[in-house]
Amino acid sequence: MYKYIYFEEIDSTNEYLKREYKNLKDKTIVFTSHQSKGKGRLGRSWVDDKNSLIFSILLIKNIKNPTLISLLSGASLLITLEKMGFKPMIKWPNDVLLNEKKCAGILVEGITSKTLDAIIIGIGINLNDTHFEKEIETKAISLHQVSKKLYDKKVVLTNFIEEFDKLYTDFIKDGREYLNIIKTHSYLDGKEIYLNYYGEDKKVTVKHINDDGSLSVIDKGNELSISSGEVTLEKNY
Ligand code: BTN
Repeated sequence: MYKYIYFEEIDSTNEYLKREYKNLKDKTIVFTSHQSKGKGRLGRSWVDDKNSLIFSILLIKNIKNPTLISLLSGASLLITLEKMGFKPMIKWPNDVLLNEKKCAGILVEGITSKTLDAIIIGIGINLNDTHFEKEIETKAISLHQVSKKLYDKKVVLTNFIEEFDKLYTDFIKDGREYLNIIKTHSYLDGKEIYLNYYGEDKKVTVKHINDDGSLSVIDKGNELSISSGEVTLEKNY
């Protein structure tokens, strides 16, 4: 059973779950209208102007590899958006795109003491946004900008949880349905990308996403597996 907690405003739904997870049940979902200190990947901030759908899910039981949980969350979002009439793609590792622009970000964090105690899945979806900050306006898009419709946050959240629950139930029985979804929606396949591999800047061609969640690329005829970090389609070094 999923339990929902709502805050009109909070620093970050991921941070809230990190502080409170010992007092909360498995599958608690915390959602908010606005984060004052939203966090993105790689130490970036995630800014919202109250038009986004912002939530985090706490997993305590049956937790496994956060990288795979992140892909599973991406897959759930792909299906949710598809059922709403969109044609989403996933840019490895976990940016969901519409019209080649980012419409959602996923930040999965593990809480570890001696073992992995909990996993927090944080998701921000650009829902009803009409504009974005200067730095991201050419790269970001909202569902509203694509369809011209306005969305009810609770409806989209419940739809997402329904898809997430199906894929997560399959995943904990060692199913791989989420991987098929990810693989068939991979935006980077066949594209030339730039990345930093063990301190060396490289231009490589993407083959596909592997079953362990890594990205398989071809570098001068050699196949490499990239397991984390960031890749870009433009040279930025
Ligand atoms: C990214 O693309 O960099 C990941 C963005 C993740 C944003 C979500 S919004 C809900 C949750 N709480 C946070 O502070 N961050 C995540």
